[in-house]
Amino acid sequence: MTRRLAADGAGIAQAADILRNGGLVAFGTETVYGLGADATDAHAVARIFAAKERPSFNPLISHFPDADRAFVHAHADGRARRLAQRFWPGPLTMVLPRTAECAVCDLAGAGLPSIAVRVPAGDVARALLAAAGVPVAAPSANPSGGVSPSRAEHVLDGLEGRIDAVLDSGPCAVGVESTIVDLTGPVPVLLRPGGVTIEALREVCPDIALPHGGSDARPVAPGRLSSHYAPTLPVRLGAVSVAPDEALLAFGPELPGSPLTWNLSPGEKLEEAAARLFAGLRFLDMEGRRRGLRAIAVQPVPAHGLGAAIGDRLSRAACPRT
Ligand code: TXA
Ligand code: MG
Repeated sequence: MTRRLAADGAGIAQAADILRNGGLVAFGTETVYGLGADATDAHAVARIFAAKERPSFNPLISHFPDADRAFVHAHADGRARRLAQRFWPGPLTMVLPRTAECAVCDLAGAGLPSIAVRVPAGDVARALLAAAGVPVAAPSANPSGGVSPSRAEHVLDGLEGRIDAVLDSGPCAVGVESTIVDLTGPVPVLLRPGGVTIEALREVCPDIALPHGGSDARPVAPGRLSSHYAPTLPVRLGAVSVAPDEALLAFGPELPGSPLTWNLSPGEKLEEAAARLFAGLRFLDMEGRRRGLRAIAVQPVPAHGLGAAIGDRLSRAACPRT
């Protein structure tokens, strides 16, 4: 049985209790819902992999209520401190060397010498993390390879009965996952585009290196593996027309001719499109299959700002499945 907890004092206290006792709690962050467990408890972390059916070589992000607590476990140099100051709490994850005191279990870090840390925005998430008092490992709260959840109902669609509770803080404001930056080498490397734009990162880290050609030859961040975020229906990108048996994921003025449309943002606002992306993919997939449609056609989305993260998730959704 999966309990649905309200995002009030009692719900947060119960959720924290479950985490401290080795249970699994899905909770809303500003990006997507995370599936949380005590990151210091390998048993609890193993339950995350089991619930998601996630390949266990994927390392997880550890979440903290503030930078001070994050930097007990992860070694922060000047660059990391500047990034934290500018973007935390918020949708940025930093990959840093583990400290000697790092209590995050090897399983959560997939045995790597580095650790991914993040301080999410959102009062409910931070209150939960503070109440839990331990680092909380949390991948997106969906079965592995599926579409990330931006509402509590999405979490239950995929994981009902497999997790102890979901703390319902309503829809996620940003809607795409955090931006991941690797700071373990001399040059900061962008591992995954996300809620913090590359343009904003460059203001703090002008020398940041971008991933080579979007290829997955070097799977440092397995979130970059192909066929991620995949709906069941095939996804066709760059649509300039749409067939009568295709659902349409629109951006701006809608192409005519589809029987089923979800507009990411009629007014072409990238923030709105990011927030509506995963809900739209879910809706078109479910409703499109029900109506016997054969694919999801996607109108082009500009590549600047949050469009980089949106385009990244869409091209993964369109990847041939294996
Ligand atoms: O917005 C987010 O980041 C959400 C919310 C719940 O915080 N979490 C999320 O987690 O997207 P997940 O597990 O779906 O993606 C985590 C990514 C994976 O691609 C993983 O490979 C990468 O972070 N990662 C974690 N630890 C790493 C490390 N030490 N080195 C390189 N990549 C790492
Ligand atoms: Mg994920």
